[in-house]
Amino acid sequence: MNHLIAPSILSADFGQLDAAVELINRSQADWIHVDVMDGLFVPNISFGFPVLKSIQRKATKPLDVHLMIVQPERYLEDFKKHGADMLTIHYEACTHLHRSIHAIKELGMKAGVSLNPHTPVSLLENVIGDIDLVLIMSVNPGYGGQSFIQNSYQKIRECKELILRKSSKALIEVDGGVSLENTPRLLAAGADVLVAGNTVFGSADPEETIRKLKSLSPAH
Ligand code: DX5
Ligand code: ZN
Repeated sequence: MNHLIAPSILSADFGQLDAAVELINRSQADWIHVDVMDGLFVPNISFGFPVLKSIQRKATKPLDVHLMIVQPERYLEDFKKHGADMLTIHYEACTHLHRSIHAIKELGMKAGVSLNPHTPVSLLENVIGDIDLVLIMSVNPGYGGQSFIQNSYQKIRECKELILRKSSKALIEVDGGVSLENTPRLLAAGADVLVAGNTVFGSADPEETIRKLKSLSPAH
């Protein structure tokens, strides 16, 4: 499978949100990555339902919603109602992860589980067959524009191995510090989906940067 690109709207200018979504629409991006932060699970607060709804109104590509919130099970139905196609919850934020994964799927969304940099991939052993997406955080969640944590390559490889061993169909998504420089190595390690915030929206020509990210091949 060719890799997918999911620009993160967190790095866009929120005063020009429609323009950012339209840019993603006409670009070669595959998904729109939407970061929801509650100020508890992570130190930062991003935005909630009204903003998600306006993104959905304009978006022509699937919304990949990444919940950095405590007890995400309280809001699964609301995220469905406000336009999420893929809903990713954090391993560290869920006491009953298995139940929440199935609740997401029953609502008709794809279910993802995200791992913080300190959380080992092996903890997904008993749910990897149930999920559509593993989101490997390659920075500590909370902010865009941070530097990539090098240990993430190893985690991607371990995740790929777990997926193959369990015959899971889950995709591996990498989030945090993704750049044009590290993309070939991320693809070689087994990444299927790359989230990019600052690399896209901090560049002079975001549409062209998305095209470049999309056209890169795995490193040898
Ligand atoms: C960080 C968010 C990321 C963020 C990535 O907590 O989950 O999605 O937007 O931004 P960059 O690509 O700038 O690291
Ligand atoms: Zn994210």
